[in-house]
Amino acid sequence: MKPINLFDFEDAARERLSTLAYDYYRSGSFDEITLRDNHAAYDRIRLHHRVLRDISERDLSTELLGQRISMPILVAPTAFHELACPEGEVATTRAAGAAGTIMTLSTLSNRPIEEVLEAATGPVWFQLYVYRDREATRGLVERAQACGCSAILLTVDAQVWGRRERDVRNHFRLPAGLGVANLLPAGFDEVPATASDSWLAEYVISLFDPTLSWADLEWLASITDLPVLIKGIVHPDDARLAVEHGAHGIVVSNHGGRQLDTSIATIDALPAVVEAVNGRVPVLVDGGIRRGSDVLKALALGAQAVMLGRPILWGLAVDGEAGVRQVLEILEKEFDIAMALCGCVACDQVDRDLVVGAS
Ligand code: GLV
Repeated sequence: MKPINLFDFEDAARERLSTLAYDYYRSGSFDEITLRDNHAAYDRIRLHHRVLRDISERDLSTELLGQRISMPILVAPTAFHELACPEGEVATTRAAGAAGTIMTLSTLSNRPIEEVLEAATGPVWFQLYVYRDREATRGLVERAQACGCSAILLTVDAQVWGRRERDVRNHFRLPAGLGVANLLPAGFDEVPATASDSWLAEYVISLFDPTLSWADLEWLASITDLPVLIKGIVHPDDARLAVEHGAHGIVVSNHGGRQLDTSIATIDALPAVVEAVNGRVPVLVDGGIRRGSDVLKALALGAQAVMLGRPILWGLAVDGEAGVRQVLEILEKEFDIAMALCGCVACDQVDRDLVVGAS
């Protein structure tokens, strides 16, 4: 049966992916409470819609860091796209470009930045993990800038790896022939696995820098001219600190429930972060978005845009680039319907009055 919504795409992807790949993509950490709550929290919020407002002409586009995009839905960074499709991140990036939105390429991609940017037809942001080896980290940032990425998205919630028990049970490791392509020049495309646990957990523990702190934002700003957004913030005090340390944007994120289990659902964390930021930089949110009405709720609570993670991977597994395009088209259509039925014709008309039951 043809998938008609994002949940159908997950069902169809599950049938196509190996258990190792499906579990890696879908898993959260420990009891997966945050993983479930990220979506459940959207379901707890109700819409208080308006009527009789002439919604015949609608414009879903929005502007982010000076860039006009077709809709407030971006592709979130997710790792290892060749587990889903042989063209990997090249296919995902082409689909994002065709949809008129931003692709965020993970540090942990199977295809190198250069190849992805060569194939890109739209804006690409680069998601950065900071390695203990700062020269290797600097190399990534410089390559991202040289290739034409338009922003750096620094992930700050994963210097220690959340324990994803499915990966532990499966002894997750990349199949032969796949590696962390961006780190090949630095010699960190592989780590010897002891096979006792998840290979990725071992990779992160041995290579990512757990000393990362606010002072490193200044270091990052000193090595790039690109705007730096910070992903992984849920606390308003951290949002304030991020702005004070020069962040150009914030992504409210708990890493899709893959890091600290029982962490607050992102849509519940969003309002306080938006209030703390007070319009100084754009705030985005990811985690649990599966319906167009979820996008609308995020905008109503002050997000400039949302980032979509796992459903992109489901589209990729089902039909490569075309599958990702379908996933983005479905969510865009659903968001359009939600906007119209709320009496809005543009993203900036979606305001707080439209939601009840939010924290
Ligand atoms: C990669 O970022 C992951 O969460 O597995």
